[in-house]
Amino acid sequence: MVSFSALFVSGLMATVALAAPHQAHQHLHAKRNATSAKKGAAYNEASLVAALTGVSWAYNWNMEPDGTLPPGVEYVPMLWGPKMYSGWSAAADSALSSGSKYLLGFNEPDVASQANMSPSQAASDYKQYMTPYAGNATLVSPAVSNSGSAGQGLDWMKSFLSECTDCQISALAVHWYADASLTDYFKQFVNQAIELANQNNIQEVWITEFQATGDDASQVQFLTEILPWLDSQAGVGRYSYFMCSNSVLLTAANVLSQIGQAYMSLF
Ligand code: BGC
Repeated sequence: MVSFSALFVSGLMATVALAAPHQAHQHLHAKRNATSAKKGAAYNEASLVAALTGVSWAYNWNMEPDGTLPPGVEYVPMLWGPKMYSGWSAAADSALSSGSKYLLGFNEPDVASQANMSPSQAASDYKQYMTPYAGNATLVSPAVSNSGSAGQGLDWMKSFLSECTDCQISALAVHWYADASLTDYFKQFVNQAIELANQNNIQEVWITEFQATGDDASQVQFLTEILPWLDSQAGVGRYSYFMCSNSVLLTAANVLSQIGQAYMSLF
């Protein structure tokens, strides 16, 4: 019987042997095609995700993919809010049987124009619709905005978590929008989210929407600083820039914008 480690070592040696003759070229090639375990695509049109070669996961604020994602990209369904309760269990079952490993909670329940839920309503609904899946999926919290107002953002999350101690949440989700020059504020906000997660025995933070405001060059500069930082933070599980569309990360199907190139080139 061949052990797993023997197989692994022989696979590694074969890879090294293959790579050796073209090391410089292989290195560039590998970099371009690398898969980031953290980097994702937030999309509305599934066909556009193909341009983001190397993302490991994708979501569309919905319970089903609405099209076909590229092979190897994990679809993550979202229970957006009460409007989805009736279809949720069928959709979640189907996604999990097709390979999804995570489930996303409510979208910006702290914002009136989004899921718009009080922390206590959200906690009781989360227990009803999400917690039963804890044995089959890793559960992500509702995603809050970066509003600093009382009752919103991390303040909303704090109240929610205090009422959801038995919800079996393993990742805390946040969103962030602000000027591209505010990289320190971005890091501070993510660190605050990590601290809140840790206080609640939640292992990691997901930044499921973030976008820097500013022209293309400022957004590129923002990503150049922020992506290596995100990749190096042990407390950050996954992230997705807003968004995989022809107006932000792409200019047309299969054509990355400058912002998209920055998002994809930095691993
Ligand atoms: C909305 C989603 C929408 C997404 C992208 C979000 O703010 O909640 O319903 O799909 O933006 O347009």
